[in-house]
Amino acid sequence: MSGILAIYPGSFDPLTNGHLDLIERGRQLFDHLVVAILTNLEKDPLFTTEERVTMLREATAGMGNVSIDTFTGLLVDYATQKKARVIMRGVRAFSDYEYELQMALMNRKLQPHLETVFLMPAESYSYISSRLVKEIFRHGGSVKGLVPPVVEEMLQQKVFPS
Ligand code: PNS
Repeated sequence: MSGILAIYPGSFDPLTNGHLDLIERGRQLFDHLVVAILTNLEKDPLFTTEERVTMLREATAGMGNVSIDTFTGLLVDYATQKKARVIMRGVRAFSDYEYELQMALMNRKLQPHLETVFLMPAESYSYISSRLVKEIFRHGGSVKGLVPPVVEEMLQQKVFPS
């Protein structure tokens, strides 16, 4: 594959409109963007890996240069195996920065040829997080506009199965 391949790694438990906003921005910057879902989450995920793949595939259908993949183990090993040049991460607020900087510098130490690029989502998405979406939904609040419709449906089936 020619051009710059970027990896956008994350838990995506679940995918939010903030993530989607970043995917849209990333796919305009890079030749190819691989959204990579971490499968060996230390935290117990609400959605299985397969369900997270499904929601990402549906929400990015029609985005020509975006593909969805899963990975285990170290991100730098996965990115090297994919021949990626860039790791893309989103920074919403200053509070994200410390953790993101630490990860980026550690990843650089492990694999100097990989560059981490931070993108900011639209301000209107800057307060959305997967954790809050789950919390709101579990307590009966509306997540309309916070997640794509496919995720809303999957949350309904998962949290309040009929
Ligand atoms: O969406 P998240 O949970 O903030 O994503 C975190 C993620 C998946 C990017 C991070 O936990 C990760 O890269 N994990 C893979 C293991 C790894 O490489 N750890 C060392 C990071 S310096």
